[in-house]
Amino acid sequence: IDLTTATILIFGASGDLTARKLIPALYDLWSEGFLSADLPIIGLARRSKTDEQFRDEQRDTVSKFTRTDTVTDEKWTAFSKRLFYREIDITAESDHAKLKTSIEAVEREVLGDIITKRVAYLATAPSLFYPAVNALSQAQMVPRNSEEEWLRVVIEKPFGHDLQSAQELSQQLSELLGEDQIYRIDHYLGKETVQNILLFRLSNSIFEPLLNRNHVDHVQITVAESQGIEHGRGGYYDRSGALRDVLQNHVLQLLCLIAMEPPALFSGEEIRDEKLKVLKTLSPGTKGDISEWAVSGQYTAGQSFGQAVPGYREEERVPADSHRETFVAMEVMVENWRWEGVPFYLRTGKRMPERVSEIAIQFKHPPMNLFTTVECDGDICSLVERKPNELIFRIQPKESISMKFSTKRPGMQYQIQPVEMDFAFEDAYHKSLPEAYERLLMDVLRGDSTLFTRSDELEAAWKFVTPVLEEWEKTGQTPEPYYAGTWGPSSAMALLNKSKRSWRTPSATEKE
Ligand code: BG6
Repeated sequence: IDLTTATILIFGASGDLTARKLIPALYDLWSEGFLSADLPIIGLARRSKTDEQFRDEQRDTVSKFTRTDTVTDEKWTAFSKRLFYREIDITAESDHAKLKTSIEAVEREVLGDIITKRVAYLATAPSLFYPAVNALSQAQMVPRNSEEEWLRVVIEKPFGHDLQSAQELSQQLSELLGEDQIYRIDHYLGKETVQNILLFRLSNSIFEPLLNRNHVDHVQITVAESQGIEHGRGGYYDRSGALRDVLQNHVLQLLCLIAMEPPALFSGEEIRDEKLKVLKTLSPGTKGDISEWAVSGQYTAGQSFGQAVPGYREEERVPADSHRETFVAMEVMVENWRWEGVPFYLRTGKRMPERVSEIAIQFKHPPMNLFTTVECDGDICSLVERKPNELIFRIQPKESISMKFSTKRPGMQYQIQPVEMDFAFEDAYHKSLPEAYERLLMDVLRGDSTLFTRSDELEAAWKFVTPVLEEWEKTGQTPEPYYAGTWGPSSAMALLNKSKRSWRTPSATEKE
C-alpha cells in the first residue's frame, strides 16, 4: 500500500466522534504501519486547549477503543507527536486567515514545508458543514483536485432531514467543492462483512446464478440494536427516528449491495452507478396505503438482557409525548428484470433482544415435498414444516456467512433435518477485523471513493423514504408500542404474515 503524506484536519475535535472513533482508528492505522511517518493530525475546535491537553485527552479514549494493542508510554509518545490542536471559530470571518497560518505552521514544524494534500474531516454538527468548507475556501485552501494538490472533505450523516434539505446541502457544498472532493461516510460500508457481500457474490460462481426471481423467495435485512438511546443523543434522535437514522442510509446501502447488478469494472463510479439503479427502481411492496408496506414502532419499558429498562419516552431529552419511531419495517420491491416479484423485507430498531445486523436470502422450496422434516433436541424430535434454504450474511456482532440446508437425519427413516454451515471470519483468519473507520480513513487518504455515498445515491434514497415521512407527519401517525427487549410491534409481523412468511429470529451468536 502506497502511504500518502497528507495533513488530516479534524473540525469538531472536542466531540465524541473524534475521541471514540477517529483518533483510535488513526492510532490503529499507524500502529499497523498504514500511516506515513510524519502525517500531522490537527484537531480544530472553538475551545481553548494546548497540544498537550489534547494529546492527554485522546490517550484515555485511544486506550479504551484501540483494536490493535495496549497503548504503552513509548507507543503513545511516538504516535502523539503528530497530534496538534488549534483553537478556531470557523463561523468567525476573522479566524479564516488564522486557519491557514496555523495549519501551515504545523506542517512546517512537522515536515519542514507546507503540505498541499489535505483531508478535512467535518466531525461537527451538520449546520457547520458549510461554514467549515467556506472557512477553508476563504483561507484559499480548496484547490481543484490534482495529483499534487488536493483537499478531500469527509462528512458524516445526517446529510439532510428529507429530500429537500438533502438537495439544499448538496447544492451548498457543490458551490465550493467538486463531487470528487466530497466523501460522505456511511460507516456500514466500512464494515468488513459488508464489503465482502460484493466479493462473495462476484467471485463465487455457485451463488450468483441463484440470486434472482427464479430461485429467491424473499430477502430479509435486519439492523437490530439492543441498546436504547445513548447518553446525550435523545435530542438528535427525537428529531430523526429509525427511518432517517438507520433505514434511509445503512439498510438501503445493504439492500443495494445484495440487489445490484455486477459492475463492468470494480471501480467507485461503476459500483455506485449500479447501486443508484437499485435505488431508482425501489418501490412499495404493496400498491395500497403506505401503512400496508411501512410500519413503525416505539419501545415502552421492558427488559434488556434481564435488566429492567425505561421506555423511549422516559429517555433523557425525549419529550414525554414523543411520537418518534424507534423501529421501522418495510416491504419493498426492486422493480427490475432480476428481482421482479421478490419482496425485500427491511427492519431496524432500538431495544431489540439482540444487537445483530444481517441479510438473509431465503430461497424457494423444491417443487415437491417428498420427506418429512424434523427438528431434534438430542434424540427427541418433532415434526416441523419444511425449512427453506437460506444464505445469511451476518454483519455483526460475529461476522460470518452461513448456509442452511437439509440433510437426511441418520437412522432408519427418510427424515430431513435442517442444518447450518457457518463460516466465521475471525475463526478462519485468526485476526481481529479492521474497524469501519480505519478502512474508510485509509480510503480517503488514497482517494478511493468506492465506499462513500455519492450525491445522486443520497438523493434517490431520500426520494424513496420522504413520502413515508411526509405521510406519517400529515396523518399524525403514532408508532405502535412494543416492549423493550422484543422484536418490534405486531404490525411488523403482519407485514410478512399476510403472505404466510415470517421474520427470522436472528441470533447474535452463530447458531440459532
Ligand atoms: C448510526 C446511528 O448511524 O448507526 C445510531 O446514528 C446507530 O443510532 C448506529 O446506533 C448503529 O451502528 P452499528 O455500527 O453499531 O450497527
